[in-house]
Amino acid sequence: MSDARRQVLVFRELPDDQLARITAQHEVTVANPRKGAEQQKAFEAALPRAEGLIGSSYAITPQLLDAAPRLQVISSISVGVDNYPIAELRRRGIMLCHTPGVLTETTADTVFSLVMATSRRIVELANLVREGRWDRNIGEDLFGWDVHGKTLGILGFGRIGQAVARRAALGFAMRVKYHNPRPVAVPGLEGRAEHTPLDDLLASCDIVVATLPLNPATRGLMGEREFALMKPGSIFVNGGRGATVQEPALLKALDSGHLRAAGLDVFATEPLPLASPLRRHPKVTALPHIGSATHETRQAMAQLATANLLDALAGVPPAAVYTGA
Ligand code: DGY
Repeated sequence: MSDARRQVLVFRELPDDQLARITAQHEVTVANPRKGAEQQKAFEAALPRAEGLIGSSYAITPQLLDAAPRLQVISSISVGVDNYPIAELRRRGIMLCHTPGVLTETTADTVFSLVMATSRRIVELANLVREGRWDRNIGEDLFGWDVHGKTLGILGFGRIGQAVARRAALGFAMRVKYHNPRPVAVPGLEGRAEHTPLDDLLASCDIVVATLPLNPATRGLMGEREFALMKPGSIFVNGGRGATVQEPALLKALDSGHLRAAGLDVFATEPLPLASPLRRHPKVTALPHIGSATHETRQAMAQLATANLLDALAGVPPAAVYTGA
């Protein structure tokens, strides 16, 4: 790729400073297809000339790629790459970049806040105060559940899973088990995180946290059988991807009383449809996919994604090319 001005299509808003970095070097169209028919039309109209795409939270299908024959790089403002047809991109020689690393700690904070919120019933009890229902000392029926001393199971032991494990083992005196294709040696966690087969982990942990990417091996991983294997009265938290969970099976496990609670930052369909029973379920703490949503981290993600795009268009190897590893 050369240093000539290229055609860039920005399909999700970028901070002004990052957009300015791109417009200084390239011709830019900003069109977010999730924002109504007009933007969708502008997005589609820009595809045939687009050489670089940058954005997130929108499924790039093989059909869209057919409409973008000049495309050389997609820079995703996300670590997850489940919105992209990986094999098709490879076949067409289109580079895919993403934003690993910069969101790890923030996302682990979100996951751990769901562990705390569900165990200690934080949202439910805060609502009791807000709604003027705090009219006597709370009794046993509203007591929470200790986190310290419990066993935490982590499904998926990538960067975020490991960061959750550090919080649990070093900060909250929890025993940690994890399920991952292979054992991982994490500095600082020697002897504190146990590589465990899935079924054993589900059957022995008090709180199970999923930090899984979405791929053919993980789609629908948590189904009826898996929830049934979890300990009676245990908690399930999902901070990875919604479609790794069969939501009807989760609802069944909550409604039957088998699970104590669920904390969910991600859903099979986002935004969560108004009709979803998960939205108002008394045992569910639901968040609007805020894993990485802090000022600092979203800025860092935009910065890395912009650098990835600019490097790729300049023929320089970007810092974070998705390699599938
Ligand atoms: C990510 O970066 O993948 C987050 O989940 C935001 O989509």
